[in-house]
Amino acid sequence: MICRMIFDELCVLANGDIVCSCGDPSGIRVYGNVFHDRIADIYNGPKYVEMRAWQLNAKHDSFCPVIKACCGGRVSRATSVDGTTGRVVRMLQLEPISFCNLKCPACPVTQFHIDPGFRNDRASILPLEVMLDVVNQLPDLEKILFYNFGEPFLHKHAIAFLRQVRGRRSDLVLHTSTNGLVLTDGMIDAIASEILADRIVFSIDGAREESYRKYRVNGSLNKALSKMSALVDACERFGSRKRIDIVWQYILFEWNDSDDELSHARQVANEIGVPLKWVFTHTLGASKRFTDGSELAAQLFHTGDPYSALTCDSRMLHLWKHGGVAGGRYLAKLSLDREVLAGPAGTRAAALLTVENQSSLPWSPDSGQLFRIGLLLRSEKGRVLEELPGIPLPAESISPGGKGTVLLDLVLPPYPGDYQLFIDIVEEGVCWFSERSSPPLVCKMRAVIGGSHREWNYTALVETIYQALLGRPAEAGGLQYWMSLLSKGMPLERILSKFVAAASSDKRDSMIRKKPEARATLLSAIDAAS
Ligand SMILES: C[S@@+](CC[C@H](N)C(=O)[O-])C[C@H]1O[C@@H](n2cnc3c(N)ncnc32)[C@H](O)[C@@H]1O
Ligand code: SF4
Repeated sequence: MICRMIFDELCVLANGDIVCSCGDPSGIRVYGNVFHDRIADIYNGPKYVEMRAWQLNAKHDSFCPVIKACCGGRVSRATSVDGTTGRVVRMLQLEPISFCNLKCPACPVTQFHIDPGFRNDRASILPLEVMLDVVNQLPDLEKILFYNFGEPFLHKHAIAFLRQVRGRRSDLVLHTSTNGLVLTDGMIDAIASEILADRIVFSIDGAREESYRKYRVNGSLNKALSKMSALVDACERFGSRKRIDIVWQYILFEWNDSDDELSHARQVANEIGVPLKWVFTHTLGASKRFTDGSELAAQLFHTGDPYSALTCDSRMLHLWKHGGVAGGRYLAKLSLDREVLAGPAGTRAAALLTVENQSSLPWSPDSGQLFRIGLLLRSEKGRVLEELPGIPLPAESISPGGKGTVLLDLVLPPYPGDYQLFIDIVEEGVCWFSERSSPPLVCKMRAVIGGSHREWNYTALVETIYQALLGRPAEAGGLQYWMSLLSKGMPLERILSKFVAAASSDKRDSMIRKKPEARATLLSAIDAAS
């Protein structure tokens, strides 16, 4: 197991220290400091390389050499492209300020001034120009988490930072988390009118003043709710309501988890117009009623899948409890019949993809959910460029232990160069399996200039399908129909499924049995022609 923070992400504390992640709030292992180091040197320097090598080789339950405990961040499985060097930063966790207006008992911020385990400069503020310089140094960045420990909107240049990043790097996704209390009307209007965040989480743990204040010490529930509500209203006014995801995050503690209080929270959230995101914490005071795997937790989440509500440490424990498979459902083994998917830029390419269900539950729609193969086109360095059309799962892989093969067929990028194809299983509306610790498949993709390549011969491919599945040549009408679908870009795997579905019921079983051979014949024809 590895921690994505070490392979693709960077955490910068308010004193400029670069550390593993929020899992090291005191900066036990400092990789460098943004006041005097260049990030490129640090991120592929010996300390990071050493840490990555350790993660790739250590057993999942070994103590992290930094925190001397099992680290909750190590919940991802490595892929073939997760090497120790040549890494780029795709996500930045930036701590603009490590002071806070509140004193939440389990938050390290409350200890920064009094605990000698924290450095003297642990409570700090990052200057605006340093924060902007950090972003400038990261050309492959996709997302910024504008918070860590401390209240980000106490930083007097918080809005200026978000505004400048939006102006310079409009493609970056911006997320933040706030207790909401220090947001002024001016800040709220700026966020709403200029869309200065894609997602803002309001940390409001309670729906009654007394229980809220038990954790959010020095806070005011009414004020926090009115700030969240004001942001929703401002977004409505400026027409940005659909662009900014405003979330009420509610950590479930012993003192705020009664049915009555939760139902009151639902009612208030409904009136304000925000979704409630429940969180199961692992810290002192954690709810004993709502715990990972409990019946009540399943009811709270309707779908019976509360994994998304777990903090990192609880995720790690969850994985161990379920034999390394989140929810017992999310573990797939994927393999492709070739190392590189290559061809002339802008043309179609195909390969055989084998999918194995290594979980203990079926990937069937009995939960009301749909499963598919998801594909992401990524740059050579791993930056997501585009989601490509998905492919149905092979029927044989739906049951636990099952294994099946599909024809993966896609259009290569229009610009010559090297790319990555990221392949994973998706539970529609829930998650990509890799978010639940299943290893995705990342394969190399190469789009080359012109060459001797010929376009796919659609007539020959449709004839091949007829011969392979029906043992006869195509009739004129059928040939035209299937060719037109193929030429409009419908993937071969979908054509095969539609072909079988369109056949009379007495022929379907035998056609399903012949599908694997049909795929192999189609692929040989494609490979031979290219
Ligand atoms: C340290 S806070 C900093 C940002 C901001 N001050 C806030 O409270 O949202 C970062 C995140 O940690 C969460 N958090 C705080 N105490 C927690 C706890 N005991 N268990 C789990 N998450 C917690 C916060 O709700 C917030 O989403
Ligand atoms: S409001 Fe956020 S940063 Fe402040 S003490 Fe609470 S959890 Fe920590």
